[in-house]
Amino acid sequence: DSDVRINPSILAADFVNMQAELARIAGADFVHVDVMDNHFVPNLTFGPQMVERVQATSPVPLDVHLMITDPDRWAPGYAELGAASVTFHLEAATEPVALARRLRAIGSRAGVAVKPATPVEGLFDLLDDFDQILVMTVEPGFGGQSFMPETMPKLHRLAEEARRRGSSVWLQVDGGISESTIGQAAQAGADTFVAGSAVFGSDDPDAAIRALRESALR
Ligand code: DX5
Ligand code: ZN
Repeated sequence: DSDVRINPSILAADFVNMQAELARIAGADFVHVDVMDNHFVPNLTFGPQMVERVQATSPVPLDVHLMITDPDRWAPGYAELGAASVTFHLEAATEPVALARRLRAIGSRAGVAVKPATPVEGLFDLLDDFDQILVMTVEPGFGGQSFMPETMPKLHRLAEEARRRGSSVWLQVDGGISESTIGQAAQAGADTFVAGSAVFGSDDPDAAIRALRESALR
């Protein structure tokens, strides 16, 4: 896939002004929604009730990133409320392929995420089962962390394998993505970019989205 997608993360938005915050990112491709359970990661955000309101309010479709234990139980609920994509962590899932099939059957894109230390080779035979793969470029749990360049070789290996197999899977990166880091992730093969602080920390989120898009294409 040669398109570039920019998905701002509302983790960096003002939670009590969410409607206004969402209106600022109408130029994005998707809105990235970080669900954390204080168990899979040491931080807590929100659950289905909030995501349902974001779904009803957002000008762009939802890209839900579940940083939760037991996604086999909870992930389908996010697909049912209308999320365009639902991504769960490989480290947390009991039956990732069966779960991906359920998400697709409900009508959502199926995504799987790996933490920085998790190898991607285990995903090579699953490329057809997923619509997108998220390579975390920070340890999941918090916004505003520094991009980890040491994750780029495995992203590159994954991109090469996807190309070799003629796969149309989207390759996403999340964590520390800014104008200065997005280029190396694009070079390594990413086509879908999550950015929290780089977008919502800007006075002009729309301009920030455009600048990220241009830097990814360069
Ligand atoms: C981190 C989340 C990210 C986070 C990225 O665990 O998954 O989506 O919002 O924030 P930035 O872009 O500030 O690193
Ligand atoms: Zn995320």
